Amino acid sequence: MRIIGTGRAHPAKVVTNAMLEGFLDTSDEWIRTRTGIQERRLISSERLEDLATEAARKAIEDAGLTPADIDYIICSNVVNEYITPGLSCIVQGAIGARCASVDVNAACSGFIYALDMADDRIRSGKARNILVLAAEEPTRMVDWEDRSLCVLFGDGAGAVVVTGGDGLICSRLTTTSKLDCLHYVRRLEPTPYITKEEYSAPMYMNGKEVFKTAVLSSSRDIKVLLDKSGLKPSEIKYYVLHQANFRIIEAIANWLKLDLSHFPTNVERCGNTSSASIPLLLDELAREGKLQKGDKILMSAFGAGFTTGACIIEWTK
Ligand code: ACO
Repeated sequence: MRIIGTGRAHPAKVVTNAMLEGFLDTSDEWIRTRTGIQERRLISSERLEDLATEAARKAIEDAGLTPADIDYIICSNVVNEYITPGLSCIVQGAIGARCASVDVNAACSGFIYALDMADDRIRSGKARNILVLAAEEPTRMVDWEDRSLCVLFGDGAGAVVVTGGDGLICSRLTTTSKLDCLHYVRRLEPTPYITKEEYSAPMYMNGKEVFKTAVLSSSRDIKVLLDKSGLKPSEIKYYVLHQANFRIIEAIANWLKLDLSHFPTNVERCGNTSSASIPLLLDELAREGKLQKGDKILMSAFGAGFTTGACIIEWTK
């Protein structure tokens, strides 16, 4: 597959660190130095499906296609207001496409999983033009009285359109079941037969454990992909990494002995937007004219699971 169009949509509400100081025992200084985040965009009056639809429309337009040309939709999403139907299905109707659609939940790595699935579908000849979306509202999973978590996240939707071509050089997906370090649990509807104990709880994260695992797993994925492709670290124009924390990105850049100019970021403006962070950043780079034909881009993400997903693509647009 190769990427032929990108799009993104952000919520209108900008929440700065100073605004959080108004109701949390936190400070701009703490948040900036620990995470690099200065502000984030939060869902307020919008619905996530509206952002997903806007990102999808922009990506399809950028690809020079119409919704009728899309023959499969894959949407990475962890939560939204609907448990069912899937967000991909809601977007399919909203853009006026008629193709099959499916949701993927691989937490923050979901966009890379979706891209990999799109590649398989194109290789098998089952689809020509696929809309790959990531739309997330992680700010709805956290306790807004818990300063250690709510300051980290932001909401948004990013999308790409892919078609047949030689844009995917290699990819790597891993899953290591490790529920204790990051999870979010919701109680389901009761039935007369439930005898087990059930509960709802906002997101739990062991930040230090996630930090270490993220740096180690992302660095390992990057090394495996560079070895596999025969590319030197300096031959990658941009490392588009999951935007969870600037210090994680900095640690990976140091490990690769590369200048931070190879590591574009939006975490300072958007916070951690879960699986949407990579397509949001990719669209920013594309629309700012920073991507040229032939550029090699390495994308690497990690998230709850623990899942990781990474790939090297060549920009062919
Ligand atoms: N403001 C002020 N103080 C705070 C805040 C806050 N917002 N949050 C925590 N603190 C305090 C803590 O209470 C603690 O105080 P204590 O020493 O008196 O107990 C102190 O700051 C240090 O807290 P730590 O948790 O040790 O801070 P740390 O340096 O580890 O940074 C952080 C925390 C930013 C969460 C870091 O561990 C991290 O980024 N981890 C990775 C998180 C991540 O990447 N998550 C996403 C991955 S998966 C996904 O995207 C869903």
